[in-house]
This record gives sequence, C-alpha cells and structure tokens, in this order.
Amino acid sequence: MRALVTGAAGFIGSHLVEHLLGSGHEVVALDDLSTGSPDNLRGVADDPALAFHRGSVLDAELVDDLVTGVGTVFHLAAAVGAFVVRDRTVEGIRVNVHGTDTVLEAARRHGARLLVASSSEIYGKNTKVGLREDDDRVVGSPLMHRWSYSEAKALDESLVAASVEAFGMHGVIARLFNTVGPRQTGQYGMVVPRFVGQALAGDPLTVFGTGEQIRCFCHVLDVVPALVALAACDEASGRAVNIGRSEPITIAGLAARVIERTGSSSSIVRRTYEEIYGRGYEDLQRRVPDCGLAERLLGFRPARDLDDVIDSVVADQLGRRAAVTSA
Ligand SMILES: NC(=O)c1ccc[n+]([C@@H]2O[C@H](COP(=O)([O-])OP(=O)(O)OC[C@H]3O[C@@H](n4cnc5c(N)ncnc54)[C@H](O)[C@@H]3O)[C@@H](O)[C@H]2O)c1
Repeated sequence: MRALVTGAAGFIGSHLVEHLLGSGHEVVALDDLSTGSPDNLRGVADDPALAFHRGSVLDAELVDDLVTGVGTVFHLAAAVGAFVVRDRTVEGIRVNVHGTDTVLEAARRHGARLLVASSSEIYGKNTKVGLREDDDRVVGSPLMHRWSYSEAKALDESLVAASVEAFGMHGVIARLFNTVGPRQTGQYGMVVPRFVGQALAGDPLTVFGTGEQIRCFCHVLDVVPALVALAACDEASGRAVNIGRSEPITIAGLAARVIERTGSSSSIVRRTYEEIYGRGYEDLQRRVPDCGLAERLLGFRPARDLDDVIDSVVADQLGRRAAVTSA
C-alpha cells in the first residue's frame, strides 16, 4: 500500500509514518513544518520508501499531485494546540477548514480511502462521563477564538460524512482524545510535556484554572495502530470513532503524578485562564470518552496506562537534553 500522511512531521504524524514504513508501506509525507519538525522523522529520513514534501495542505495542486497513486490518505495536518488557536486564529481556521476540504477533494477525485483526524474538542462543554460519538456538542460563542478549533473540526466531520453519502467515497473520522508520548512538545499548550519539562527543570508546574478539570490521556503508540485499522474499516465509513483512554485524572492530580514520576522537587502553582488566554476563556470541566465503538469495530484496547505515558515523555525529554549537552 502507498499512503499519504499530511502533518507527517508532527507528533502523531511522525509515529504514524514510522508505523506504516515498519509495516512495509510506501509513505508520501506532507508537512509545512509550522509546528512539526524534520527531527521527528530523523529515524526514517533515509528510508527509500519515504518521500517527504514540504508544503501546505492549502496547495490544491500539490495535494492533488501527491494523492495520485495513493491508496489511503491520513489527514492529520492541522493548526493544533491552545496557544496556536489563541495566537494564529485566522490561519488556524483556514488550515483546519480549507485544508481538509482540499485533501478530501483530492482523495475523492483519485478514489483513495480517507481518514481525517478530528478531536474530542468537538464535544465542547458536554461533561457526560463516557462521551459517545452521537452525543451532543455543547459549545460557546463562535466569536470566541477558544471555540474556533472545535468549530473547524466539526465542519470537517460534516464534510466527511456528507461526502461519503454524496459520492460513495470511503471516509472515516478519528475523534482523538488527549494523545501523548515522545516528540509531543509543550510549546503549543499540551499539558503533559509542559508539566514534564517544568518538573525536570525544577520549575513550578503551572496549573491553569482550578486544576479540577478532568482529562484522559492515551499513549500515541496505542493510537497509531488504531488509526491504521480505522482507515481500513469499511463499516466505519461516514462515521466518527472515539480513540482514547477512559481513565480520568484531574489536571492537579496529573501535576502531582508528574512530580512523583520524575522525583522532582518542583512545586505546583495556579494561573487563571485570563492570565494565559485573555478574557472570556472557558475550559472544559470533564472529558472522558466511551471507546466502545472503537473496541467493537477495531478491537481497540489501549495497552499503556498513565504512568507509561508520563515515563515515555520523561525519557524523551531526558534524551533530547542529553543530545543537546553532548552536541
Ligand atoms: N495530540 C492530541 O492530543 C490530539 C487530540 C485531538 C486531535 N488531534 C489531531 O491530530 C492531528 C495531529 O496532531 P498532533 O498532536 O500530532 O499535532 P502537531 O502540531 O504535532 O501536528 C500537526 C502537523 O500538521 C502540520 N501542519 C500544520 N498546518 C499545515 C499545513 N497548512 N500544511 C501542511 N502541514 C501542516 C504541522 O507542521 C504539524 O507537523 C491534528 O489533526 C489534531 O487536530 C490531536
């Protein structure tokens, strides 16, 4: 199989590329390196089965060219991270809406299977324990930049579902909950690598808001095989499927666990949302998935727990520090 991965130099994309190459696939990789890095693909850069292209999913001609001869398109390219949404709102909306439309149109034209990475953000403020794919979205005003990522991903999902119905193409939606692991950076607001970086530096861990918000974290190495299985699943076409782990933890609890796993002497401090994101920011109090559909369709059962997730991020960051020191 020949696959196109957009967002290939990003956190999840680079693990997906490695997985596909390791399974004997040819991979065409596209990334504009806006938040991704060539370093993420360093381990496979010399693999003759990998062809990397630096460019944008907004470039319809390039995307059409790259989809030619490809069996499956994994569309992961997006403007991701709370800080990116805050600082590059317009660009983010354009990439997350027009980029997906461009990739979908090329996949449709060439008869390729399509997987689009969506997000648990689409559930918004729905605090139900065990969110299911058909649960309601509860979102705030579209005028607040905070909701623009959720709105764009929801539109992506509508586009996939409608295109499957209208054109009979194969399109699936992976609704990812918090995914964590090596190579994820805390630079754009992701909480686990940010906490780990602070703990390893001996700095205070900064908890935004009350710290009582509940999240669930899944290891990227559990997520990636599920993406491949989902793209191949005929029954999933036109549907969204939750991918995540359902073991909940508060953000304050996560900070304490990171301090424990790193043996750090760091303290924990709180910052208000207003300090970080400006006025009017709303956080989600609880986000816990029901992954029963992924289990039924794909046999999905994450093998790694939260400590595995934290330990892998610690090892990754220590490895990077050692590489910088010895360089
Ligand atoms: N990490 C998570 O917890 C999480 C949760 C829900 C959904 N997702 C989704 O998974 C996908 C991958 O996210 P990630 O965590 O790996 O983030 P990431 O930022 O590491 O990866 C996104 C990649 O897309 C690239 N990109 C951005 N704009 C582009 C453009 N115009 N053209 C080409 N490439 C572009 C970036 O350079 C980056 O490499 C995204 O679609 C994201 O919305 C991730």
